[in-house]
Amino acid sequence: MEVIPIKEESDIVRARVAAKDMAQKMGFGLVDQTRISTAVSELARNVFVYAREGQVHLEVLNNPHNGIRITFIDQGPGIPDIDLAMKDGWSSSGSMGKGLPGAKRLMNRLEVKSEAGKGTTVIIEKWLS
Ligand SMILES: Nc1ncnc2c1ncn2[C@@H]1O[C@H](COP(=O)(O)OP(=O)(O)OP(=O)(O)O)[C@@H](O)[C@H]1O
Ligand SMILES: [Mg+2]
Repeated sequence: MEVIPIKEESDIVRARVAAKDMAQKMGFGLVDQTRISTAVSELARNVFVYAREGQVHLEVLNNPHNGIRITFIDQGPGIPDIDLAMKDGWSSSGSMGKGLPGAKRLMNRLEVKSEAGKGTTVIIEKWLS
């Protein structure tokens, strides 16, 4: 597993590039590499914007699917209403509200776990098979 700390804005790019490199090595085609790097960019940006800092974990999945799993972990304010946060166009910061729903559409799995005041964990997966 590879861990990328998110502490400053440039770490968002580092996470995106690391995910794309890993996806390419695993045999994902260019279109999927781009889907993965777009989702990572959005979710790493959410960590930076809403929680200030956190971590991105990259790992290879073997069972039951082959693919990549990327986990975004922070100890920020948390998301009080996850269903609302997943809605296209909903934002607490006057932004586009497209990061989470967009990432969900690009990946095979997206799961949000969050407790208000404790932090947020977002898990995404892209499968090869
Ligand atoms: N890591 C996080 N910690 C706390 N709140 C979060 C986190 N990620 C997302 N949220 C909440 O979920 C909302 C929706 O996130 P999403 O990424 O979809 O949209 P956005 O960041 O507001 O806008 P966009 O990503 O389109 O610029 C955010 O406005 C914020 O309230
Ligand atoms: Mg966002």
